[in-house]
Amino acid sequence: MKIKKGDQLGERNGLPKDLQELLEKFPRESWGEDVLNGNWVGYWLGRHSLFRKITFSINSIIEKTLDNKMSSEDFIHQYSQHMSLMLKNLDSHHLVEDNYIFPRFYDKSQKFIYGLDLLENDHHLIHNSIDNMIFVGNKLIKSVSSNSNYDIKDSLGKYKIISDNFNELLKSHLNDEEDLLIPLVIQHGEKYFGLGH
Ligand SMILES: [Fe+2]
Ligand SMILES: [Fe+2]
Repeated sequence: MKIKKGDQLGERNGLPKDLQELLEKFPRESWGEDVLNGNWVGYWLGRHSLFRKITFSINSIIEKTLDNKMSSEDFIHQYSQHMSLMLKNLDSHHLVEDNYIFPRFYDKSQKFIYGLDLLENDHHLIHNSIDNMIFVGNKLIKSVSSNSNYDIKDSLGKYKIISDNFNELLKSHLNDEEDLLIPLVIQHGEKYFGLGH
């Protein structure tokens, strides 16, 4: 299904109104521990929290380096570790969602198909954004490792703009995804969607 321009990731502010029907019935504040700790939901939210932690860590080492509290070498070392963790896990997370999780919701909640297509489309936009970020990040690593006098701060300031943009996209996707799927699980239970055990 074609995604309207204003509903695209980076353009929208939260789930489109038409998809908020269940969220209004089950707002975030009402999400109980029984649902949040469900077999599937608990695991799934754990993945989301990992991605939020990695983006937080990357952002804090960027800021430390810009504040002269971290050396270029330490930055590159930690950055590479965080980014490889992000890439490895985000790729497989999206693959699983697109191929195994969304189809289960697709079959049983026709009303929200546009929302599932929207989330799948978000994955493409996130991957384009991460590809660009990796490209610029790799150039930065190369400059630091080939020239010991290289002043990382100028390039890092520019990199931060790209990284902040990616973080915003990811944050908005994770929130909207939870706002669409968790109310559905609250209403029907994990088993209805063939999730959990
Ligand atoms: Fe997703
Ligand atoms: Fe997700």
